[in-house]
Amino acid sequence: MRKVCIQVDQRLGERLRVMLVERGLLDPEFPITKEANKLCFPLRYQLTSDELHALEQETMTLAQIELDLEAISRKPTDLKATLQGTLPDGLLDKIPHSLDIIGEIAVVELDTDLVPYEAHIGEAIMIINSRVSSVYAKEGGVSGVCRLRPLRLIAGQDQTYTIHTEYGVKLAIDVVHTYFSPRLGTEHDRVTRQVQAGEVIVDMFTGVGPFALLAAKRQSVQVFAIDVNPHAIQCLKKSLELNSLVGEVVPLVGDARAIIDEQLVHKANRVIMNLPNDAFSFLDAAVTALNPKGGIIHFYGVTCQSLPEEKLQSNVLNRLADLGWKAIVGYSRSVRPAAPHEEQIVLDLHVAPGITTSAT
Ligand SMILES: C[S@@+](CC[C@H](N)C(=O)[O-])C[C@H]1O[C@@H](n2cnc3c(N)ncnc32)[C@H](O)[C@@H]1O
Repeated sequence: MRKVCIQVDQRLGERLRVMLVERGLLDPEFPITKEANKLCFPLRYQLTSDELHALEQETMTLAQIELDLEAISRKPTDLKATLQGTLPDGLLDKIPHSLDIIGEIAVVELDTDLVPYEAHIGEAIMIINSRVSSVYAKEGGVSGVCRLRPLRLIAGQDQTYTIHTEYGVKLAIDVVHTYFSPRLGTEHDRVTRQVQAGEVIVDMFTGVGPFALLAAKRQSVQVFAIDVNPHAIQCLKKSLELNSLVGEVVPLVGDARAIIDEQLVHKANRVIMNLPNDAFSFLDAAVTALNPKGGIIHFYGVTCQSLPEEKLQSNVLNRLADLGWKAIVGYSRSVRPAAPHEEQIVLDLHVAPGITTSAT
């Protein structure tokens, strides 16, 4: 059948594949094909020019084309098709379109009408994803200091610990006791691609350490990876062993501000602040960690109707000016939706000492 595909240079293929999976655009029922030095990824549907443009902004030139492709003959890959006949027809449309797969664990968000059928849905997810041995349903949002989400087992083994691979790095994760989202994979890749050999990095809210581990795997750097959650630091220590990176990353458990004040004053040329709901209140600690000559801060925040991106940017620049630092926004982008009408965004801030006139 004629199938709409997206074509990219082979060397950018893995990056595009991860982005398409994260956005639920890759159609797993058709094969990825190769022609000369180009890879063609089958799409679930024809992308709008906005969707195509958004992908292109992530640094690649793409072409949307049509190819004659045969569906891969294998066990069903479509959750809805697998559940046909098991669920009342009216409910099939409520089947989730996307789920997070973290190592051998799937995490799914279910509409309340689907709860009576959750065991069937969980089993179907395991049939489709042969590596998955546990399926959990989200029981609420991410909350609390450690940014944890309550989960309920709906199928398979009650095993919350797993090993997830991201860009070749093995990450030890406990999906109940630590924060991790595979939807941040593109951001872990984007930020760590900027890292140069010899850098000193402070990852203030490291979680299980995906930024820290990928930076250390890619370059010879020193990373101080802080988290207040002891389970997260325990997982990071395990990952350091799994990736033979012991000594390259210093895992530190405790409050980022206290640890910076005690051990990391003026150490870093790069600071990662991935705590979107509260990073603003830690800007003082971030600049304390920075080398007196300045450096780069990757700041994550949340925008909403009352706080659009321009306003958030000016708040951050003004706060830095108040702290005695001038900064420019070298890059910004929306990372992902945070909630209805809210976006998680990242600002790459180039920061140098010196007071500027506050931004308006
Ligand atoms: C959004 S998660 C970070 C995720 C991680 N950077 C990643 O990309 O997967 C935020 C993390 O900040 C940690 N945290 C919250 N407050 C903190 C604080 N005051 N000091 C250090 N870590 C903190 C939480 O435990 C959580 O693991």
